[in-house]
Amino acid sequence: MSATLDLATLDVYDPEQYVAGVPHEKFAFLRAHDPVFWQRLPDGGGCWIVAKHADVIAASADPATFSAERGGIVIEDMPPERLAQMRGQLLAMDPPRHRDMRRKVLVGFTPGLVGRMEPFLRERARAVMDAAAARGRVNFVYDMAAALPLQVICEIFGIPEADRAWVVEAGDRVIGRDDPDLGANEDSGESSVKIGAYGFQLASERTAKGGDDLISLLVNAPGGNAISAVEFANLFIQLIVAGNETTRTLLTGTLLALLEDPDAYRALEADPGLLPVAVEEMLRWTTPVHYFRRTATRDAELGGKKIREGDRVVLHYTSADFDESVFAEPLRFDIRRDPNPHLAFGWGEHFCLGAKLARMEARIFWEEFFRSFAAVELTGPVRRMRSNLNNSHKEIPVRLRPR
Ligand code: HEM
Repeated sequence: MSATLDLATLDVYDPEQYVAGVPHEKFAFLRAHDPVFWQRLPDGGGCWIVAKHADVIAASADPATFSAERGGIVIEDMPPERLAQMRGQLLAMDPPRHRDMRRKVLVGFTPGLVGRMEPFLRERARAVMDAAAARGRVNFVYDMAAALPLQVICEIFGIPEADRAWVVEAGDRVIGRDDPDLGANEDSGESSVKIGAYGFQLASERTAKGGDDLISLLVNAPGGNAISAVEFANLFIQLIVAGNETTRTLLTGTLLALLEDPDAYRALEADPGLLPVAVEEMLRWTTPVHYFRRTATRDAELGGKKIREGDRVVLHYTSADFDESVFAEPLRFDIRRDPNPHLAFGWGEHFCLGAKLARMEARIFWEEFFRSFAAVELTGPVRRMRSNLNNSHKEIPVRLRPR
C-alpha cells in the first residue's frame, strides 16, 4: 500500500475518485501515517482531514473551538448569502443558539412519536415491495430505496401527495452539487431556496391552526417554544435532504454489501431477529455522510497538529468508521459486530435527530424485503454519485424474484 501512496500527493478531496468507490486505502494510509492531514484544495487553501475515530469525537465534543456555524458544514467556502441561509439550519448552528433550537425541534422526534410511525412504515414498505414485485426489474435506488424515506418525511410533515415527487427531486439537486446528472451545472443553492420557500408556505398556512403533523406542532408550540415560519423553512431544507438521501444511501449500500456476502444475506433472511444488531453494521459500512466540516474559532491542537483559528477541519466519519484501532477487521462486513460504536450519525452536540427513525426504517425495509423476495440479482453496472460528501448511488439495476 505505502509503495504507491505518498502524503505529498495524496488527495481524498477530488469528488471524481468517489465514482469508483470510497478510497478506503487512502484513508487507512492517513490513519497510519498522518491522522490529521493537511489536504490542499483547488480553491488554493486547504483543510484538515481528521481521519481517526478518537479525534473526530474530540473535535465533535468541543463545539466552542470547532464551530459548525462560522464557516458552515461543507469543505467549500460559501458566498456570504448562502452561508447566512445555511446558518438557519440546525446542523450549522453553535450553542447556545443550537441548543435552544434543537430543544424546540425535539418535540417531533420523541421516542413515542417515532415509535408510532411503525405501522405506517410497515404498510408503506409493503407497498414498495409489492410495486417492485409487480415490475420484476427495477432501479433499486429510486424505485425501492428512495420511496420509503421520502414517504416518511412527507408523512411527518403532512406534505400533500401531489407535491411529494417534486420535493425529492429538489432534494437530490441540493446534494448532487458535484454530479453532472443531478444538476451540478445549476446552482444547488437555487434548489434549496425553492425547498425553503415551499416550507415557508406550508408553515405559514398552518400557523395558528390545529393539526398534528410536525409542521403544525413546531409552529404552534405553546409557551414561547414555537418556531417561526422562516426558522421552519431552513429546518425543512435540512430535513428533506438529511432525512431522504441518507436513509436511501443506507439501504442502497447495504444491498450491495449483501450481494457481495451471500452468507450474511442468507443469515438475515433466515433470522430477521438479527437485524437490530446488523443495522448498526449497515450504518458503519455505508456511512452515508462521509464528513461534516467545522471551522476553528481559535488556535488549538488536534491529534498532535497545530490548528490555526479560521482553519477548516473535516470530521471524517467514513474514515473513523473504518479505524482499525476501534473496529477489528474494518473491511469485513460483519452483521454480528457488537459493540459497534460507529459515527455514521455523528457525535455529541449535533448527533443525528433522525437516528431512531432511520434505524427503524432500515429494519422494517429489510424485514419486508426478505418476506417478499426469494432472490435478487444485479442486471447491470452500479453507478455511484460523484461526491466526496455523500456516499450515494444513482443506479443499481436489479431483477427480483418474488416468493
Ligand atoms: C441513515 C440515515 C441518516 C444518517 C446516516 C444521518 C447522519 C447524520 C449526521 C452525520 C449528522 C451530523 C451529526 C454531527 O454533526 O455530529 C446528522 C444530523 C442531523 N440529522 Fe441525520 N442522518 C440520517 C437520517 C436522518 C433522518 C431520517 C432525519 C430526520 C427525519 C435526520 C435529521 C437530522 C437532523 C435534524 C440533524 C441535525 C441535528 C443537530 O444539528 O442538532 N437525519 N445526521
